[in-house]
Amino acid sequence: MPPFPFARTLVHRPIVDSTSDLARALITSESIDLPLLVLADRQTKGRGRGDHAWWSDAGSLTFTLALDPETHALRRDHEPRFALASAVAIIDAIAAEWPGLPLGIRWPNDVEALGKKLGGILPERLDTPFGPRLLIGIGLNVSTRLDHAPPDVRLMAASLSDSLAEPIEPSDVLSVLLQSLESILPRLAADDPMLAARWAELDTLLGEPLRVDLGPRILNGIGRGIDPRGALLVGVEEGVVPLFGGQVLRAPPASTRS
Ligand code: BTN
Repeated sequence: MPPFPFARTLVHRPIVDSTSDLARALITSESIDLPLLVLADRQTKGRGRGDHAWWSDAGSLTFTLALDPETHALRRDHEPRFALASAVAIIDAIAAEWPGLPLGIRWPNDVEALGKKLGGILPERLDTPFGPRLLIGIGLNVSTRLDHAPPDVRLMAASLSDSLAEPIEPSDVLSVLLQSLESILPRLAADDPMLAARWAELDTLLGEPLRVDLGPRILNGIGRGIDPRGALLVGVEEGVVPLFGGQVLRAPPASTRS
C-alpha cells in the first residue's frame, strides 16, 4: 500500500527551492502518473500568491499536488474556487483530528486561526505537452518555530502547535489532509452547494471593514461574504461588489496603529 493512496506518484525531497516549481518542472518534462505529490522537508524559495515569498522551516508542511482536471471532472470555471475548496478541505481535516480550534478562511487562499495565518494555498494552472494541469501548493505551519521567522511573518503567522496541548509534526497532518483534498474534488466538480455554504461559513472577513488592492485602485468596504462562485462580496455605498481578484490588505498590528 503506498503511503498516500491518492497520490499515484510521490516525489519526496529533503530540500528544494519550491515544491510547486519542482512539480511544474516534472509535469512539463515527462508524462507522469497523476496525481503527483511533491513533498519537501524544507523549502528555500517557497512562493506565495503574486510576488510574495513563503517562509517555512522544519516544522512546516510544504507540498504541491499536481492533477489532471479532466480526470476529476473539473472545468475552467471551477479553477477560481479551487483554493477555497482546498481551504475547506484543510480546515475540515484539522477539525476532525484536532477539534475545537478556531479556524477560518481569509479570502482567497489563507487558512487562519484567530486572525493569524496558519497556512497558505497557491493554486496554479499549467498547459503542458501532456495536457492542462492544476497544481495546488500548500504550506501549513504545523510546529513551525515562528521565533526564527522574519519579523513580518512572526507578526502575522501562527503554528498549529501553538493551539494544541500535545506535540504535532508535519507528517501527522499530511495523510489526513490528502484524504480530505481527495474527497473535496468531486464536491467541487459537482458544484455541491454545501461546499459553498462551508466556505461562506468559514469566512473571517464577514462584517469586517476591508481595504482591497485592485491594482489600479483601492476599494474600501465591508466584507459581505463569499459567494458560490468564490467571489468576495464587498459592500460599498452603491451596493455589493463581487471580487474575483485583488489583495485584501492587512491592518497594521494594533500596537503600531495611530
Ligand atoms: C500564499 O500564502 O500566498 C500561498 C503560500 C503557498 C506556499 C506553498 S508551500 C508549498 C508550495 N510551494 C511553494 O513554493 N509554495 C506553495
